[in-house]
Amino acid sequence: MTNFTYFNPVKVVFGKGMIAELKGLIPADVKVMLTYGGGSIKKNGVYDQVRAALAGRALTEFGGIEPNPRYETCMSAAAQARAEGAGFLLAVGGGSVLDATKFIAVASVYAAGDPWGIMEGRQPVTAALPLGSVLTLPATGSEMNTFAVISRASTGEKLAFASPLVYPKFSILDPETTFSLPARQVENGIVDTFVHVMEQYMCAIGSAPLTERQAEAVLLTLIEEAPKVKLHPDDYDVRANLMWCATTGLNGSLGCGVAAQDWATHMIGHELTALYGIDHARTLAVIMPAVHRHEIRRKQARLAQCAGRVWGITQGDAAARAAQGVDKMEAFFRSVGVPTRLSEYKVDAAEAGRQVAARLAKRGVKIGEYGDLGGQEVQEIVLLAK
Ligand code: NZQ
Ligand code: ZN
Repeated sequence: MTNFTYFNPVKVVFGKGMIAELKGLIPADVKVMLTYGGGSIKKNGVYDQVRAALAGRALTEFGGIEPNPRYETCMSAAAQARAEGAGFLLAVGGGSVLDATKFIAVASVYAAGDPWGIMEGRQPVTAALPLGSVLTLPATGSEMNTFAVISRASTGEKLAFASPLVYPKFSILDPETTFSLPARQVENGIVDTFVHVMEQYMCAIGSAPLTERQAEAVLLTLIEEAPKVKLHPDDYDVRANLMWCATTGLNGSLGCGVAAQDWATHMIGHELTALYGIDHARTLAVIMPAVHRHEIRRKQARLAQCAGRVWGITQGDAAARAAQGVDKMEAFFRSVGVPTRLSEYKVDAAEAGRQVAARLAKRGVKIGEYGDLGGQEVQEIVLLAK
């Protein structure tokens, strides 16, 4: 096990009816800016619950944050937050609203020029408005982590930043808010969570037995709950289990003592979303099996462990078990309802591979747990996903 420092200050407020707790979670003397997306919260009653919980409070709002939130939208929101003197941001929605709100929190107090420099890793985050969240889509883990992914329409980029200054002060996780999710977003959430766990777990370097078993527990729970949510979408406990899996999947705990992580799937996936507009999770379902097949020799030991403990595969040598485990994972994504091949999106894999490789090379990015997958390997991986 490698050394680690683990700090996660997010207060998680979990369960039905917990939106009412909002009034005690936000300081009484600040103006709150409520941020939200395209209107789902107005249809499912979450907006009304939030307004009721904050009755009598100084409040302003900014709606219209799009999926794969845009820098341009965030900059308008930041200008509004400044102009109206907002002292606290409350994100109500999915990962996109949360991520946008993290960027708005930084941009609205930014004094060193264009905050896009933060996304490019050229400038540090030195201050941010405090923020909290009411999560309505379990998927990204943004509600309990330091990351945000922002797209820039004018340049076609999709980049991530991280800072402890954008940890939410609290996140309210009421599984009842997820009853209104379209099936496609439920599917996306399951796959995104699964892949977050895998990116931390499926590494060839080092070992952290407890953390690995915690990762396997999340994977097993997802595999158990995924068919249930299709059959019984109104089952509160199933929704609650999926929600807690998603938050646990990317709140940092599954990285404790793990020597390295492999975010190759996400790095390629973000480029595919930027290039072709494919939903975040759907890019991951296409790319992760391809990454594992490409890296099957180097990842063999962990893939075989996963095959045995998660997929129940016990026959054959380690190489055969590893390969069967990858097949099982791909079949699982398909059973959830998510395609796993680029051809299903009518995307030419050879062309996509060239483009993704060129975009990563332009930023000088090499990927994988060894940081040694460059243009050639990226093209090979994307081709395996054809
Ligand atoms: O905009 P509204 O009207 O709210 O509708 C949203 C949106 O259309 C809808 N929705 C959300 N909650 C709902 C609902 N519809 C009905 N009922 C509800 N309860 O769902 C649609 C998708 O929402 P979005 O927030 O975009 O989805 P998700 O949570 O999957 O977030 C995806 C974004 O997060 C980034 C992705 O790259 C992508 O930009 N990620 C953020 C990460 C992080 N911060 O740690 C890590 C991830 O790997 C990921 O990269
Ligand atoms: Zn993700």
